[in-house]
Amino acid sequence: MMNVLIAAELRELLEAPAIPDGTIHWLPKHAPLPAGDFAAVIPLLSRRIDGPTLERLPRLRIVANCAAGTDNIDLAAARRRGVIVTNTPGVLTEATADLTWALVLAVARRLKEGLELLSRGRWEGWHPMLLLGLELKGATLGIVGAGRIGEAVARRAVGFGMRILYTSRRRKPELEQDLGAAFVPLETLLAESDVVTLHVPATAATRGLIGRRELGTMRPGAILINTARGDVVDEAALLEALASGRLAGAGLDVYAAEPRVHPDLVAHPRVVTLPHVGSATHVTRRAMARLALENVRAVLAGRAPLTPVGD
Ligand code: GLV
Repeated sequence: MMNVLIAAELRELLEAPAIPDGTIHWLPKHAPLPAGDFAAVIPLLSRRIDGPTLERLPRLRIVANCAAGTDNIDLAAARRRGVIVTNTPGVLTEATADLTWALVLAVARRLKEGLELLSRGRWEGWHPMLLLGLELKGATLGIVGAGRIGEAVARRAVGFGMRILYTSRRRKPELEQDLGAAFVPLETLLAESDVVTLHVPATAATRGLIGRRELGTMRPGAILINTARGDVVDEAALLEALASGRLAGAGLDVYAAEPRVHPDLVAHPRVVTLPHVGSATHVTRRAMARLALENVRAVLAGRAPLTPVGD
């Protein structure tokens, strides 16, 4: 029998999970990862799987992260130990793109300020100058990172009549042909976009990608959206850019030190802050949990993983 550890929070999403020749152990939320002869682990993205953790699991064959990102896992250490790492790409693309647009619309049309006006009983009636925001039609959307999610965000932009710019490690001719998107350097994208949205993974190369210098080159009155990873943005620099009026607002679903969020971001009237819920739909969360389990089943049965991650 092979022992498999699965984050207990996934229990409700996995109906009668079965692993041939495997015994499932549910890992409670705050419990440290136990040492032992576990052959597979399905962690949440909030659990750090580093070199010392892997050392305590000498029989481990796979870490099947229940997330698209794998920045919680030391990929190099896993590779050195011959441990396969998988993620859950594809199944969360549409849900995350939808949430990105929820933030774009919320910030562009100043929903937080509007909600507060009513909840505090301060609304004095219709006024031609009340809460004027950004009109999306004709505005420019800058997509940083045109992987699956960036591409799904771009597809939705067509419906809003936006001009689309994108940066990416590799050019995407289909985005250019189908949506009229233009591939530009990051500097151009930042200088020309009314809305900048981030869709890159957290890696050494993307840490602090949007810092003081980059924010300073954005269009005055632009909006920044981050549904990717908190590390990509320098939060202190973002607060400065908001205070100086350079940015009109920001929509954030992810933070550098989750679940801690800078209180000034939460309190800012033009910053919409969500608790990392990009993929939070019933359908998607179920599909993520299932895909993680399928990866474990495949590897423990000696087959290739469905969605392996390289480093
Ligand atoms: C969520 O943030 C994920 O990486 O799946």
